[in-house]
Amino acid sequence: MKTIAFFNNKGGVGKTSLVYHLAYMFADLGHHVLAADLDPQANLTSMFLDEDKIETLLPAGVRPKTVLGIIQPLLERAGDINDADPVIIDSNIALLAGDLGLSAFEDRLSAAWTYCLDDEKNNSADGVRVTTAFYRMVKAACDKTDSTLALIDVGPSIGAMNRSALVAADFVVIPLGADLFSLRGLENLGPSLNNWRTGWQERRGKAGKAGVNLALPAGEMKPIGYVLFNPSVRENRPVRSYQKWANRIPAAYLREILGSQGRLAVAEPDPNCLAMIKHFKSLMPMAQEVRKPMFHLTAADGAIGSHAGAVTSCRTQFQALCERIGREIDFPIDPA
Ligand SMILES: Nc1ncnc2c1ncn2[C@@H]1O[C@H](COP(=O)(O)OP(=O)(O)OP(=O)(O)O)[C@@H](O)[C@H]1O
Ligand SMILES: [Mg+2]
Repeated sequence: MKTIAFFNNKGGVGKTSLVYHLAYMFADLGHHVLAADLDPQANLTSMFLDEDKIETLLPAGVRPKTVLGIIQPLLERAGDINDADPVIIDSNIALLAGDLGLSAFEDRLSAAWTYCLDDEKNNSADGVRVTTAFYRMVKAACDKTDSTLALIDVGPSIGAMNRSALVAADFVVIPLGADLFSLRGLENLGPSLNNWRTGWQERRGKAGKAGVNLALPAGEMKPIGYVLFNPSVRENRPVRSYQKWANRIPAAYLREILGSQGRLAVAEPDPNCLAMIKHFKSLMPMAQEVRKPMFHLTAADGAIGSHAGAVTSCRTQFQALCERIGREIDFPIDPA
């Protein structure tokens, strides 16, 4: 199993849409994929499932079949996580459904991080159990569905919830917009990833010495690049008003995320840019209406004329992104 988190504390940069479309594209390319909705906004779940289906996951009086249901024993201090109950979307895609109630886990996760280092064995074991709950549920869901790749969607924040989600991630993709806030956001993301990575190594080492008998993640959270989503992209190039921000991203990514102090050799295209994803305008609402990825839209869905061309262009962009990600994480993808 390989895990990739799509992370940026800047909101609305296309994280959820990317996870959704990449899950379908990896599935189209023949892979079994798990999409994990670890954002308490649960937008990814709403993209995959209609409200009637979501309601069936939340039966009254019973534990919900969502990520909240899985971690509930930890919240209630009544044992370890429940079995993962992924929703089968189709033969190649499974979903760990999100839940608005997940936000109740934030405080427990925050305290657990400190507990991991506690000298009292029960406290440190509890800290590790809670901190690795997301990793272990993703792993269990992958095992159950034969998924070899997990795509993790997280909310736009830098807190205990995302730290724990990132501990579950082998790789990190940073979706960005070409704007000042995305650029500034990189300054928070780099130090957070470094602190979380080294913080987890320390905790993992301690847990190992204390004989904690759990599957523990490596927590590498290796940044493999950024995806530039620009609402004003035309012909794959940002329009001029965004150009100055787009121009500053390569150096900022190198400095803040990769920590390179050296001079940035001006390389075109930037090797850390995994893709520039176009704003597909009315294709997105059309796709959401029929609950399909944009590149699955057909004439019967209303994708005719220029929309049909946009569907093809969308498929090309996402397939290229899948292939690029595959190369970065050593996950071979057969050409379609
Ligand atoms: N390639 C695209 N073409 C058209 N619209 C898009 C595209 N990608 C994302 N959007 C739209 O942009 C908005 C923000 O996208 P999305 O919800 O994926 O961002 P996010 O980073 O997950 O947001 P949040 O931080 O709230 O979780 C949504 O309305 C989505 O439908
Ligand atoms: Mg989102």
